[in-house]
Amino acid sequence: MAARTPILAGNWKMHKTHLEAIQVVQQLSYRLEDRDYEHAEIVVCPPFTALRGIQTLIQSDGLRIQLGAQDCHWEEQGAFTGEVSPAMLAALDVAYVVVGHSERRELFGEDDATVNAKARAVLAHGMRPIVCVGETLEQRDAGEAEAVVRRQLDGSLAGLTAAQLDDVVIAYEPVWAIGTGRTALPSDADEMCGAIRARIAEQHGQGVADALRIQYGGSVKPGNVTDLMGQEHIDGALVGGASLDPEDFSVLCTYHRL
Ligand code: 13P
Repeated sequence: MAARTPILAGNWKMHKTHLEAIQVVQQLSYRLEDRDYEHAEIVVCPPFTALRGIQTLIQSDGLRIQLGAQDCHWEEQGAFTGEVSPAMLAALDVAYVVVGHSERRELFGEDDATVNAKARAVLAHGMRPIVCVGETLEQRDAGEAEAVVRRQLDGSLAGLTAAQLDDVVIAYEPVWAIGTGRTALPSDADEMCGAIRARIAEQHGQGVADALRIQYGGSVKPGNVTDLMGQEHIDGALVGGASLDPEDFSVLCTYHRL
């Protein structure tokens, strides 16, 4: 099986001014210096307003932290008041862009077609989309979780080639586990990540599926990260709340030592 490099990404959501953001990354890098995290990719996804400052910090200090954005529009430019284009993000050395987060889907009406357009645009600009999928509690209780996730996956990745999938990361984030302190059981999370991998194998072959990185997200903390990361199909974490705390996030990034 292809070796998959673990990827720990912090989604800061709408938190931190650009100055606070620089402090968080400085403190994070300071803490990471003493820790062994070379085995994994570390990504921070601050608000748009902080991208430039963090880009400069990463470059000037030679940090081994990558920059991510939380969303983007799918067009190159145009009359889209308030939007940020993938070209603008690529120009800031953004490596990853989260698309289709459940908060975008629920609060801003994004559907799978929108997420698909965004994922394609991100890839077209040489960046990697982190494509989020995940069921609500009602859907899980109704026994529909896997069908819902499969539908989101099919719609969000529609038309992508096997070569493009090499640059895609999937984040499985059950909506009921986000910001609630309620984490999915590692075995349940692994089962869904395994189902995601199986779906990709059906469509693109086992080789592509084996190479695909799948993150779990939803109340990941230093206390549960090791169990989650120990699962066969979980290759990383998309972390909200705990990524705002440099100590917690640096500890998370060294989950194999906990
Ligand atoms: P929490 O880690 O705060 O539950 O957030 C998860 C999330 O939504 C990451 O994208």
